Amino acid sequence: MITADELRGKYLEFFKSKGHAIIPSASLIPEKDESANQETLFITAGMQPLIPYLLGKKHPAGDRLVDVQKCIRTKDIDEVGDNRHLTFFEMLGNWSLGSYFKEDAINWSFEFLTDKKEGLGLDPNRLYVTVFKGEDGIPRDEISIEIWKKIFLDKARIKAEVAGEDEIIKDNIRIIPLGKDDNFWIAGDAGPCGGDTEMFYDVNPEIGKLNGKFSDLVDTFRIIEIWNDVFMEFNKTEDGKYQKLEKPIVDTGMGLERTLKVVNNFDDIFQTDVLEPIIGKIEKMVSSVSIKKLDKLSGDDEYIVPPFDKPSVIAKRIIADHIKAAVFIINDGAIPSKKGRGYVARRLIRRAIVKAHKLGIKYNFTADLAESIFEIYKNIYDFNIITIKEDLENEESSFRSRLEKGLRELYKIIKKYDQNIKPAVRWPPKDIKKVSAYTINAITPKEAFNLYQTYGFPLELINEELAQFALFIDEKEFNEEFKKHQELSRTASAGMFKGGLADSGEMSIKYHTATHLLLAALREILGSDLPAGQAGIYQKGSNITAERLRFDFNYPQKLTEEQIKKVEDLVNEKIQEKIPVEMIEMPKTEALKIAKVSFDPAKYGDVVKVYKIGNFSIELCGGPHVKNTGELGHFKIQKEESSSAGVRRIKAVLE
Ligand code: SER
Repeated sequence: MITADELRGKYLEFFKSKGHAIIPSASLIPEKDESANQETLFITAGMQPLIPYLLGKKHPAGDRLVDVQKCIRTKDIDEVGDNRHLTFFEMLGNWSLGSYFKEDAINWSFEFLTDKKEGLGLDPNRLYVTVFKGEDGIPRDEISIEIWKKIFLDKARIKAEVAGEDEIIKDNIRIIPLGKDDNFWIAGDAGPCGGDTEMFYDVNPEIGKLNGKFSDLVDTFRIIEIWNDVFMEFNKTEDGKYQKLEKPIVDTGMGLERTLKVVNNFDDIFQTDVLEPIIGKIEKMVSSVSIKKLDKLSGDDEYIVPPFDKPSVIAKRIIADHIKAAVFIINDGAIPSKKGRGYVARRLIRRAIVKAHKLGIKYNFTADLAESIFEIYKNIYDFNIITIKEDLENEESSFRSRLEKGLRELYKIIKKYDQNIKPAVRWPPKDIKKVSAYTINAITPKEAFNLYQTYGFPLELINEELAQFALFIDEKEFNEEFKKHQELSRTASAGMFKGGLADSGEMSIKYHTATHLLLAALREILGSDLPAGQAGIYQKGSNITAERLRFDFNYPQKLTEEQIKKVEDLVNEKIQEKIPVEMIEMPKTEALKIAKVSFDPAKYGDVVKVYKIGNFSIELCGGPHVKNTGELGHFKIQKEESSSAGVRRIKAVLE
């Protein structure tokens, strides 16, 4: 078996040997300029944090890069639970910023996939590729077709032929030209883009020769996409024009989990070592629940018994996927809330809780489950363990205090409509409103609002439950009801379908910079008072919302009033000095000479970002930050308390 740690290591080493510099994963939360034209809440592909460089900016690590990037995709959230979709995943990627193009990229992809020693040792006979067939005035990618033909022949003695318009794979056909929907890559509506070539692997050769239409073979999971080489030649502008890029770019993306599944011959991604231990832990939790308890939601028979998710294996996968994604989102600075990123985290956690509840896990379990996630990734990512567990615990306690009642209310509503329908065999029906053969009814907007507001059910979750009984929430009516309540209560904040409104990203960025100032101030004020043997003050945890910052650091005793005042004053002094915040990318070895780091240096890439605030603060950090400390306003420490043994916690606000 090849583990995730081994796969990452192999991939990075392979491309390092081809002259690529290893760069670290960026935060899941995009920096402002990267996402300027994309409106994405999270990094959804490895190329996203690199957009400025794809568009021509010089990258300090050179023009060949390789990395493993954390990604979150919520678009496919309803598909999670099948054998290949995930909310959180890692993408292995190699980049050429004008250095090499199709020939090297395709050759190296083939080499890495098939080489038994340096690569994954996959069988070339089971490999199929798609290429861009040309559309919208952009011609068919004949170059990639010729490169693939040559490689198949030279390296594997396979005479690869090209499929026709019918996209049927049979006999010697290995290369399938497809249109823009499949083989042209762009993140969002604008930005760097181009045709691509995607690599697929036949995962069931034992059931006979591959024969059939490409899309059917994909839909039936006979062939699985494992890698995408995008050949970016254009920048699509906001008004829809394609401008030629200064230099052609290669952007490749290989899904870590899918590749592990394929290489290890697993039936599904949940057997890989980045998911199996989480499923295992959920299974333990479930098996300790007595069957009797499963029969009802509580001791109350007043409401109809909800359908238990069948097969429960899907529910377990959803729980594992969602809590993992929530852990990573929280770790990168968003906490469960009503808006934006926080709302995504909330939606994931609450959906997982409902699934778990129906499996009989009726106690707070998310913080405990998170332990298995920390363990899986301990060699790769740093976690603010205390913060994550606390945020999960808070979210779960708040939701669970209303959950039983809320579910009872939900099933009362369902009963009222008396739809008398067996639960849908498979969630989700592709379109809730089109579950054929039944009359589809909307519940009243008041009922929907009550479930949402009083019981804290995310709307998507209510719809998911309702759909099993051919009921749904009418979005338009709900929004009207929502507005009415907002007028009544000025404090109610918005929460809408599809991820809610944008969060206050700007405040979070300010708090992030304030956190750097705080750490530097703590070092200056408290550094000399540390007991012998402690080299300095370090970050032990950090959590930022749009409302406040929270920072944990090592210090043996409570801070005095005087120390708190001094720290506060020093931060405010630096704000008043209006110091520019500079970002410099440099080799890690250089960076470690000038900055103290709170995390294991081995976890950073060869080239790191260093944020420098005058000579006051120098930190290795992914950003983002404000441009000048003058933007921060007035800094105030609200609370200083113990966090755990030898660790203090400060909560502070910007006014
Ligand atoms: N950007 C492409 C993708 O996400 C390749 O990295 O698939």
